[in-house]
Amino acid sequence: MLKSLKTELVTWSPTFSVGIKLIDDQHKELLKLTNDLFNHCIGDEKAERMYFQKVIHSAVSYIKVHFATEEKIMLKTNFPGYAEHKKQHDSFILTIVDQAKTFEEARQFSLSTITKFLKNWILEHIAISDKQYFDYFRKIATRKEDGRLSIAEEDIKSGA
Ligand SMILES: [Fe+2]
Ligand SMILES: [Fe+2]
Repeated sequence: MLKSLKTELVTWSPTFSVGIKLIDDQHKELLKLTNDLFNHCIGDEKAERMYFQKVIHSAVSYIKVHFATEEKIMLKTNFPGYAEHKKQHDSFILTIVDQAKTFEEARQFSLSTITKFLKNWILEHIAISDKQYFDYFRKIATRKEDGRLSIAEEDIKSGA
């Protein structure tokens, strides 16, 4: 990795947690994905381009799986912000696919530019939009005896 990009690496911290393990695990994977991309920013344009082409499609697939997981939970719990949240997911996919295409075609290729964009979007989305969903989830969920939150059918009906 280029020395200047060392500070871009993200370490998971509890402040990123939205409180749903499945989602937290997927978010961790997304951060790992951007770290992996940064680790491949070596200043060799040809090598960076090859690496990017190798990983971008599976990265986009993983992001799609993550979005679908969140959307499924939101729908099941009647989250009122669902449509707005889904719009953000959809437009991100369009942007990333479009950017990937542009970067592949461009004469000048910069893996660090697209990786910075990815990282910033992911961190901002987790901190603002995903947290909003979690606040809602927390409001309608019931706390079990062991302290964990869970959502039963009744919670969804009353929370709607
Ligand atoms: Fe998310
Ligand atoms: Fe999301």
